Amino acid sequence: MANDVVPRIRLNDGNSIPQLGLGVYKVDDDTAERTVATALDAGYRHLDTAEYYANEAGVGRALAASGLPRDDVYVTTKVWNDQQGFDSTLHSFDRSLDKLGVDFVDLYLIHWPAPRQDLYVETYRALERIREEGRARSIGVSNFQVHHLERLLGETDVVPVLNQIEVQPWLQQTELRAFGDARHIATEAWSPLARGRILDEPLLTGLAEKHGVSTAQLVIRWHLQSGLVVIPKSVTPSRIAENLDVFGFELSDDEMATIAGLDSGERVGSHPDEVG
Ligand SMILES: NC(=O)c1ccc[n+]([C@@H]2O[C@H](COP(=O)([O-])OP(=O)(O)OC[C@H]3O[C@@H](n4cnc5c(N)ncnc54)[C@H](OP(=O)(O)O)[C@@H]3O)[C@@H](O)[C@H]2O)c1
Repeated sequence: MANDVVPRIRLNDGNSIPQLGLGVYKVDDDTAERTVATALDAGYRHLDTAEYYANEAGVGRALAASGLPRDDVYVTTKVWNDQQGFDSTLHSFDRSLDKLGVDFVDLYLIHWPAPRQDLYVETYRALERIREEGRARSIGVSNFQVHHLERLLGETDVVPVLNQIEVQPWLQQTELRAFGDARHIATEAWSPLARGRILDEPLLTGLAEKHGVSTAQLVIRWHLQSGLVVIPKSVTPSRIAENLDVFGFELSDDEMATIAGLDSGERVGSHPDEVG
């Protein structure tokens, strides 16, 4: 599956992001190197890591070994909760660049608002500085609720390009996505497969069978047709290839509406008001 089949989403700062990428949460450094090498070989051109994942070095080694031009691979990383604050974020970012072995990232995110620390506005100002310096081409946030976004928009200058949040058929985040859409803040779905748990959902397995695809492919296709950026994680080569092979079928409006009915608000990850 060639990479040029993956559409790009235009961001509010004029840059664009491949709509489908590879996530590497809970993948150790050596496995990340192997997994990213497999993914780049399969045609992925978008990688999602974080300082917290402790695998930026492995991601960077695979990137370097691929021989691909730096501009051809979209790289996202994130500042962790215990590094929030202006100066510590700048230091955290330097470490991330160093481990990744690159001189810029495409996207730098605040990993969680961590509201009890009350540092996300200050942290975002460091991201604005990093963007001004050209060391992150775009900046954004992750796990921000409407009230966190409202405060950020009121107190800082650069509108985040996207908000990376948990989205999967049981947690469709309609209100938060609509808030973002109205302000040109794209939504990126983490745990898009509900960490694998959604794959036994009968309605989805039935639709997958009808289309002759796997349930994971069906769910990834639903994310794409919902206008989301999506970053499924797998360390399994056959699944890495399978998850990219989602451009040969289409869900009908009726099927999209049926899947909308699965939204129950059930999370597989943490609630953003309770982290940090
Ligand atoms: N910003 C945040 O706070 C945040 C939080 C969580 C995640 N994320 C990002 O989002 C990415 C994805 O989320 P996630 O890793 O939590 O979960 P996920 O992508 O929803 O699910 C990953 C799980 O599904 C399995 N899987 C993947 N493809 C499959 C397929 N085709 N068939 C069957 N099983 C399949 C994987 O198994 P194998 O690996 O064993 O193949 C793994 O167990 C992360 O890696 C990370 O980059 C961000």
